[in-house]
Amino acid sequence: MQIKEQVDLTDFNSFGVHAIAAYFTEIQQPHDLNEAMAYASQHRLPTQILGGGSNILFLHDYPGLIVRLANRAVERLSAPGLLRVAAGENWHQLVINCMSEGLYGLENLALIPGTVGAAPIQNIGAYGVEIEQFIVEVEVFDTATGTVRRMHKADCEFSYRDSIFKHSRNLIVLSVTLQLLTQQSPQIGYQALRDAFPSGEVTAQQVFDTVCRIRSSKLPDPAILGNAGSFFKNPIVSKDKYQSLKQQVQDLPCYPTAEDELVKIPAAWLLDRLGWKGRQRGQAAVHTKHALVLVNLGAASGEDIYLLAQEMSSSILSNFGLSLDTEVKII
Ligand code: EPU
Repeated sequence: MQIKEQVDLTDFNSFGVHAIAAYFTEIQQPHDLNEAMAYASQHRLPTQILGGGSNILFLHDYPGLIVRLANRAVERLSAPGLLRVAAGENWHQLVINCMSEGLYGLENLALIPGTVGAAPIQNIGAYGVEIEQFIVEVEVFDTATGTVRRMHKADCEFSYRDSIFKHSRNLIVLSVTLQLLTQQSPQIGYQALRDAFPSGEVTAQQVFDTVCRIRSSKLPDPAILGNAGSFFKNPIVSKDKYQSLKQQVQDLPCYPTAEDELVKIPAAWLLDRLGWKGRQRGQAAVHTKHALVLVNLGAASGEDIYLLAQEMSSSILSNFGLSLDTEVKII
């Protein structure tokens, strides 16, 4: 394991903002984590785990040790469709490989940037599917005990863009075990997919292609325009609150949640209504095609993006009495 000093993180975060890590290491083998953590505790350094850097915003230089997880492996386990995938694998590549091997279910989650290890942390979701539906267990390194253990899905506390891994800083995801489908069972409940396939006749490949097409038409490619997808979560409110918002903005949509009394409101819709699409603050801007996505026009600092985000959430609070939680992790 090699520890580098004064490493430029620009290429390690999909916003492409400039920040320097005082110390940086890349982990190829899970057991190297022990050494990295021992180094950090010896030198009293804070640590931050990094996957693909596609859901993170660096506000300034990082004074501690950045640990980039780059362990790779995809293992077929004995039961049909059961797969253990190392945290450092690329998510979208996994989706493609599964499809070509006749393993289905992940097609709605195509083109999500980032690594497999990040997927359970924020319980990635898109087009009507969340990764928790396929997770059997998550293997973690527990820095509190220095041991590796497997956590069953039920212990992962999954909910909308949330899990135990977001809150317990001692748990580092090493691999994810997924139970995929060996028969196609396309999910087209999400409105945009229903519209694309009115007859209901559809293959997994067609869902994959359509999700890729919709995402590419709305969401900027981080390789071209720095961004981290949705910056905020969609707020979950009571049905009463939704009804009172509807008096203000009549055609406001809402989506069901797991709880009967609560609905999810599209923050992008509200931000769009307030005219945020395309607005700029220096080199930070709101994407012209999607109001929930903040972009780096080239030379934005983490702070520029953060200040723009704060202006957006204040306007939602003052106009609609709703507070927006960030989906992106601010460092
Ligand atoms: N809308 C607007 N204006 C906009 C963008 C959207 O009015 O500028 C409206 C749309 O017409 C639609 C509603 O807002 O009625 C929702 O838009 P969309 O379908 O794009 O979904 P979203 O709620 O903004 C969520 C996820 C995305 C995921 C899509 C598709 C969150 C925070 N975001 O976005 O996830 O791809 O649904 O399922 O839940 C991500 O997490 O980074 C991400 C991109």
